[in-house]
Amino acid sequence: MLVSAKEMLIKARDGKYAVGQFNINNLEWSKSILQAAQEMNSPVILGVSEGAGKYMGGYHTVVGMVEGLLKDLNITVPVSLHLDHGSYEGCLKCIEAGFSSIMFDGSSLPIEENIDKTTKLVETCKEKGMSLEAEVGAIGGEEDGVIGNGECADPQECKLIADLGVTMLAAGIGNIHGKYPANWTGLSFETLEAVKGLTGTMPLVLHGGTGIPSEMIRKAISLGVAKINVNTECQLSFAAATRTYIESGKDLEGKGYDPRKLLTPGCLAIKATVKEKIELFGSADRA
Ligand code: 13P
Repeated sequence: MLVSAKEMLIKARDGKYAVGQFNINNLEWSKSILQAAQEMNSPVILGVSEGAGKYMGGYHTVVGMVEGLLKDLNITVPVSLHLDHGSYEGCLKCIEAGFSSIMFDGSSLPIEENIDKTTKLVETCKEKGMSLEAEVGAIGGEEDGVIGNGECADPQECKLIADLGVTMLAAGIGNIHGKYPANWTGLSFETLEAVKGLTGTMPLVLHGGTGIPSEMIRKAISLGVAKINVNTECQLSFAAATRTYIESGKDLEGKGYDPRKLLTPGCLAIKATVKEKIELFGSADRA
């Protein structure tokens, strides 16, 4: 059964580790991530961007597929199905479709509008027992065609949003989605500390987990980050393993073109990446 991310994040915050959110794109991604989490005995959050939801056929398809996998693969670790960077309308659709968690990304809106829409969703999520993530300070980089610069959130605005009763808060601290450019100056721990200072016990979320050096990840967790999002790194692992398979001519040997063979190296690569992250985030054996 899909669960809200609330309990797993409170435990993570108190236990000084972070739960990974790994974005899914299809059956192979979902299955590989769930198997990795189960084998590591770790809670996990499956992230779905609006673009990925559309790609998979729609939110009902996503819910049906993930719920089916939980049963058929005997997944017993806590799993949350979470809308990533949702619009207000996208959030309503996912609530209706049966997601167990949503993120409303109002970071590009004027703060008053972000507060207004987040407030409405806080009520709905409470009624449904779902978790809600809010965002202040746009996370830079490119995700589903949405491009922004790595901002540092205003800690006062973070407090305003945190006080609305959201479950978790994503605050921009100089992080960006996708690969980090060579001239990236790193995470702003100063901002993170200021946000933590004003938001108290609120579990904080670090987006753009791909390519952040391990030391920075550990420090971010020690300063209150309880959820870390990873997307691009699984895509890169999958693509590299698939490239090797094809470039070595394996698809031309026997029935190597069978998708169940062709996609296996990529799936194993995703599993390895997810396990590495679970280890780094400290959520292994915390299910
Ligand atoms: P990356 O693609 O940089 O890992 O970021 C993922 C993310 O933050 C999803 O919201």
